[in-house]
Amino acid sequence: MEVDPYGVGPNSPPGAIRPATAADATRIAALSGELGYPSDPAEIASRLARLTASDTDLVVVAERPEAGVVGWVHAAEQELLESGPRCEILGLVVGDAARRGGVGRALVRAVQSWAAARGLPEVTVRSNIARAESHPFYERLGFTRVKTQHVYRMR
Ligand SMILES: CC(C)(COP(=O)(O)OP(=O)(O)OC[C@H]1O[C@@H](n2cnc3c(N)ncnc32)[C@H](O)[C@@H]1OP(=O)(O)O)[C@@H](O)C(=O)NCCC(=O)NCCS
Repeated sequence: MEVDPYGVGPNSPPGAIRPATAADATRIAALSGELGYPSDPAEIASRLARLTASDTDLVVVAERPEAGVVGWVHAAEQELLESGPRCEILGLVVGDAARRGGVGRALVRAVQSWAAARGLPEVTVRSNIARAESHPFYERLGFTRVKTQHVYRMR
């Protein structure tokens, strides 16, 4: 089994941190449901195929021998007109049963290693104010809260 391909380091949790593959679609869909986005595995599989083929996206899963895939993260390289290139975490979830065991930290570290290897100067994440557990999590990992936003939508 491939362990630690992104340099997560000796403190990474047991199991692998590895790029997602098509075979992970069903577990990713189930975990997305926990994130509040009930998802059809077929739709996830089709998005996953596009994202894993994209040079500017990273989808990584955390897999434990006894439990299979217990978490995933999606990050992307973006170039903003006003402030240049950066990496943004667009989705992150660790299954309920695996939380507080270092999986979230390992997934974010994988994103940071990927971003650093691409020369991206920063990793950003927007976290819903309602996701109470994510705020101490990101702060514990060294992220700084820089602003609060309103999100608008038109359908
Ligand atoms: C936020 C989330 C990804 C954290 O994953 P996790 O695997 O439980 O986090 P870790 O175990 O790697 O925790 C890393 C650090 O954050 C801290 N932390 C994690 N959850 C915490 C919480 N609820 N309260 C306080 N601290 C917390 C841990 O204590 C740990 O610090 P330590 O090393 O000093 O012990 C997970 O709770 C989750 O998936 N939540 C629902 C979805 C979500 O909010 N996603 C983020 C969207 S932006």
